[in-house]
Amino acid sequence: MKKNGFIGYGSMGSMLINGFLKSGALASGETVVSNRTMTKIENLAVEWKGITITTDNRKVARESDLLFVCVRPLDVLHVLDEIKDDLIDSTHLVSIAGCVTINDIESRFPGQVTKVIPSITSEVRQGISLVCHSRKVAKVRMEHLEKLLGSISRVVNVRENDFEVAADFTSCAPGMIAAIFDCFVNAGLKHSEIQPDVAQRMVVSTLLGTAKLMAEKGIGFPELIGRVATKGGITEEGVKVINKHLPAAFDEVFFKTLSKHDLVKEMIKKQRIMVS
Ligand SMILES: NC(=O)c1ccc[n+]([C@@H]2O[C@H](COP(=O)([O-])OP(=O)(O)OC[C@H]3O[C@@H](n4cnc5c(N)ncnc54)[C@H](OP(=O)(O)O)[C@@H]3O)[C@@H](O)[C@H]2O)c1
Repeated sequence: MKKNGFIGYGSMGSMLINGFLKSGALASGETVVSNRTMTKIENLAVEWKGITITTDNRKVARESDLLFVCVRPLDVLHVLDEIKDDLIDSTHLVSIAGCVTINDIESRFPGQVTKVIPSITSEVRQGISLVCHSRKVAKVRMEHLEKLLGSISRVVNVRENDFEVAADFTSCAPGMIAAIFDCFVNAGLKHSEIQPDVAQRMVVSTLLGTAKLMAEKGIGFPELIGRVATKGGITEEGVKVINKHLPAAFDEVFFKTLSKHDLVKEMIKKQRIMVS
């Protein structure tokens, strides 16, 4: 029986594997995992009886019909060069690397390819997995993959051209949201004796409540602002400052993140020629 394979057990690989196993969407006996450093995956075999662990990427490629490549963007083509002779027509290859295009992957494996951008929020079965399938992916393969991802997240199909902005909204956003609210808390703490951990708990609970309120009641950003920032009130003063300064900051955020995408894509384009 062919298995579900994973190459790379870092932050994202481990989140996906443990998430799929815990949700019951994946059985340990049908899972094979490789990582460059063996010590990092040894615990997996203790926790999940029947799972196969190895440092041999080619073994994982041979044994899998669904194969996740969960290494960093600049390592993806090296891994594909290593395993390409072990891939067959029925293999469904999934890359989760930002900046690596379906074309880049097809330069090594012209078969069924899907690009996925997960989010760290799926560690608690929340958030979005962005998905873009190549033309060659069979419907049954798409359904299997989307069912797996659906066990830990909401699946959203996007055009490959929209991946970078969408990834800022879903996959980079937890880091950016943390940075924004770290500044918010630190600014507030200058004016009070509240302990930092207490302030953080207050804001995190408010973030959770805000997200839940918006999601459950179908409230959009302008409506929520209108309901809280009543005319002549305190919140309105804060919202005015945010509207004055943050649009320019976020223009720069997108300028910088999209430029970085372009830079890494250019490096991978060079790799495409060099490695092959
Ligand atoms: N972090 C995020 O929030 C996020 C979100 C969406 C997408 N992504 C994408 O997910 C991918 C992985 O990111 P990450 O944050 O999980 O990186 P990471 O924590 O650095 O993990 C990468 C893993 O790949 C392993 N590895 C490297 N080369 C290998 C090889 N040749 N064979 C087998 N294993 C190899 C590393 O092994 P060692 O143990 O030896 O280091 C490490 O465990 C990236 O392409 C990134 O663009 C990340």
